[in-house]
Amino acid sequence: MSDSIFAKIDTILDEIKSASPQDPEQLESYRIKYLGSKNVLKALFGLIKDVEPARKKDFGMKMNELKQTAQAVFDNSLETIESAGNDQARVEMDRTRPGYPLEVGARHPVSVVLNDMVDIFSRIGFVVSEDREIEDDWHNFTAMNTPEDHPARDMQDTFYLTNSIENLLRTHTSSVQARVMTTSKPPIRIIAPGRVYRNETVSARSHCQFHQVEGLYIDKNVSFADMKQTLLFFAQEMYGPQTKIRLRPSYFPFTEPSAEMDVWMGTETEKTRKLTKGTGWLEVLGCGMVDPNVLTNCGIDASVYSGFAFGIGIERSAMQKYDIGDIRQLFENDIRFLKQFQAAH
Ligand code: DAH
Repeated sequence: MSDSIFAKIDTILDEIKSASPQDPEQLESYRIKYLGSKNVLKALFGLIKDVEPARKKDFGMKMNELKQTAQAVFDNSLETIESAGNDQARVEMDRTRPGYPLEVGARHPVSVVLNDMVDIFSRIGFVVSEDREIEDDWHNFTAMNTPEDHPARDMQDTFYLTNSIENLLRTHTSSVQARVMTTSKPPIRIIAPGRVYRNETVSARSHCQFHQVEGLYIDKNVSFADMKQTLLFFAQEMYGPQTKIRLRPSYFPFTEPSAEMDVWMGTETEKTRKLTKGTGWLEVLGCGMVDPNVLTNCGIDASVYSGFAFGIGIERSAMQKYDIGDIRQLFENDIRFLKQFQAAH
């Protein structure tokens, strides 16, 4: 029994003695094998319990020799490699050499645009109010004046959580309106940026996840003109001081009247023609006066208060800003794609 253990030690001893790592890489493998935290000697030490008592002392001495030889071979090889005159090896072994510079990360284009939007609204008193992405049916739909049999539910194909029709991935940031209105009193002036989800076929133009910035302003005597001026300010800060906007009548269950806002991009360039489908107008957001039903649902007196709300899509602006042709690129996290934005921020 003990003989075979001693034989094993000798084999490893021979192995060590004949090892001669030639370069830093070989030296490192050697170090890991014989000196690292999981080195082969450690396993041998465990065998002491199988050594007959009279030979335990010998075993200890043998193991010491093994350890010292392993270290000595390492030290010698290190010295040889370092003094080999091989510049490359010397550079690699120079432990005083400063480290490689850390690569600076880049902001994701969606974050850049989202932060720009948050910035703009912060300047006119809107505060950020973020909330959950897993929502319940009430906050996402019912409170927002979209009861179960409402046809508008078909407009937004919903991801429901397994075995539940109560819990879902929010289809819009409008759910945060309900969260805020049920927990705070007017005046309310918030923006809610965040991710939303819809069960849509993924293509170059649409994705099953994207981002919105929701806005909500509630106080006494808030008018449609207030909304228009706020959105004009936003558009001119975002797209340039000469930017023109137009509001087209639209429909959303939670606002009355409702509108969609387009920004004038022009038709001069190929890019803007493509982006605006030849019209020159880029659709940027949905908006409207908060429907009194929504106020009532959320416990706010609709005879005293009024307000406006809007929901801005972020991806389209990011794609326009950075000339990105395919929305899927925004979610693939391909480092070659993301690195292009390093200089942007
Ligand atoms: N929630 C709408 C959507 O996802 C966008 C929207 C439209 C938000 C009008 C609003 C609004 O707050 O007033 O399509």
